[in-house]
Amino acid sequence: MKVLAVNGSPRKNWNTAMLLDSALDGAKSAGAAGRRVDLYELDYKGCTSCFGCKLLGGPSFGRCAMRDDLTEILEEAIDSDILLLGSPIYFNDVTGEMRSFLERLYFPDITYNKSREQLYPKKRQVGWFFTTNAPAGTYAKLYPEVCATSERLLGHTEYVDASETLQFTDYSLYAADMFDVPARKERREKVFPEDRKKAFELGKKLAELSRNTGAAAK
Ligand SMILES: Cc1cc2nc3c(=O)[nH]c(=O)nc-3n(C[C@H](O)[C@H](O)[C@H](O)COP(=O)(O)O)c2cc1C
Repeated sequence: MKVLAVNGSPRKNWNTAMLLDSALDGAKSAGAAGRRVDLYELDYKGCTSCFGCKLLGGPSFGRCAMRDDLTEILEEAIDSDILLLGSPIYFNDVTGEMRSFLERLYFPDITYNKSREQLYPKKRQVGWFFTTNAPAGTYAKLYPEVCATSERLLGHTEYVDASETLQFTDYSLYAADMFDVPARKERREKVFPEDRKKAFELGKKLAELSRNTGAAAK
């Protein structure tokens, strides 16, 4: 049972990465094996609309034709049984790097045929992990929308979000006096560990679902 965690935050050990690591630990606790990749470590672009993935008889039919640091990661994601996707919300959406990754993952799977068939050989269990500055509920519309696309293309999808995250360790160093810093710090100590527990439980649940249902063949 293979798990891949994809970190769409530039920060490798802060809110999103921590949430994702908890989910990864949860999946591993249920028997999955795998790793986390940090998208901002990689050199790649979003889909360039080359259509190599849809060229009938072409060498890249059903796969992204672009060759860069994402090539190997896309194969791992396609082959995964559990895919954990983490992103902070940047200007009301997932980060640019996560978006570019998703374009490259989603597009080769679909065709413009009337049958709307999908080309990847299997579905997987998907967990989304979002973190925000804004209070809980702010993105109540966005999360189901993001999840609906991964549900349709990648497989069964659920999410966990952490809101009002701690953005800096020392707020006094930055132009950021609109925050109630003691409340943020308290939230980090009391609420964020609960969010991490939810992430762990979701990772575990997805791995158990994967184990119980098998890699649902199409
Ligand atoms: C460029 C940028 C844009 C952001 N836009 C939003 C936003 O639209 N809504 C929000 O709630 N938080 C926003 N944030 C805050 C982050 O989503 C939040 O601090 C998140 O937890 C950071 O995740 P990280 O600790 O993994 O980097 C933004 C942060 C940055 C750097």
